[in-house]
Amino acid sequence: MKEKIESLRAEIRDLIAQTQTGKGLYEVKVKFQTALKGIMSGMKDLPKEEKPTFGKIVNEFKQAMEAQFEERAVVVKKMELEAQYEKERIDITMPGKAYKAGALHPITLVKNELIDIFAGMGFKVFEGPEIETDYYNFTALNTPKDHPARDMQDTFYLADNLLLRTQTSAGQIRVMEQDAPPIKILSPGRVFRSDDDATHSPMFHQMEGLVVDKGITLCDLQGMLAEFARKMFTSSTKVRLRPSYFPFTEPSVEVDLSCSECGGKGCRLCKGTGWIEVLGAGMVNRRVLENCNVDPDVYTGFAFGMGIERIAMLKYGINNIKTLFENDTRFLEQFED
Ligand code: DAH
Repeated sequence: MKEKIESLRAEIRDLIAQTQTGKGLYEVKVKFQTALKGIMSGMKDLPKEEKPTFGKIVNEFKQAMEAQFEERAVVVKKMELEAQYEKERIDITMPGKAYKAGALHPITLVKNELIDIFAGMGFKVFEGPEIETDYYNFTALNTPKDHPARDMQDTFYLADNLLLRTQTSAGQIRVMEQDAPPIKILSPGRVFRSDDDATHSPMFHQMEGLVVDKGITLCDLQGMLAEFARKMFTSSTKVRLRPSYFPFTEPSVEVDLSCSECGGKGCRLCKGTGWIEVLGAGMVNRRVLENCNVDPDVYTGFAFGMGIERIAMLKYGINNIKTLFENDTRFLEQFED
């Protein structure tokens, strides 16, 4: 028996010393416990008087071995952790992967700013469809089929009567058909024209404004535009109205703002004039009101329409409209809020 114990002690000691993992150590322990069980079951064949001495020996052996298992368990655990740390080692000097956050497009920034400015003056937003009928885009806006003013806007026709809207002015008609005055709306959106050069794009954005109520005059238009100009550009920006022509307004005006670059002294941006043309506007033509069943003897109104790209180009000093649509992030990230 004693020899058996000694050889088992030596065997298990070697095995313990060799194990490198918790799992391996557990397997050795199972082997040890099985062998120990065998030894203990052999005790029943011993003479009665030898049993206590032998029991003591077995107990000591068991305790000694368990102490060895525990000792090794600490070592193995440490080895395993070190291996794991080594595997998961992070090179903290390595440059990080850069994730770039998205940002709003300059057109969206300007559109939102315009909405903010006019919402502050009580305007509500109305969005019309991009595919329009000839009626809403032209005829109801006092521009019938044979009208020469149609030539001002080269149009994408989809069918005889359907087109990609050339102006957000179409929204004026939809709003006046839908609501009775007082009306005060802002209509932003994409418009399309068969037009393409450094300052024109076949798709661009406009912001339309329409106010209809009793007693509205050109003076109201001028006052609102002055407020818009001061908020959008600088507090010293001035507004100038020049006579112009649009079929849907009478009188019609072209609206200039004092040049934000030179303050009105004259520079390259304003071509030496001190003024920059920014939008079209006017008093809503009686015919347009009549087309929408609004009595022109009771109500008057003003309307204006501006190109959002144009405002963005002026505000940010962009000289080619195409850069707004190329989606080059090196360009776009300059306008983050
Ligand atoms: N729709 C015109 C254009 O696209 C701009 C415009 C001019 C809109 C005068 C208006 C207006 O509402 O009153 O050129």
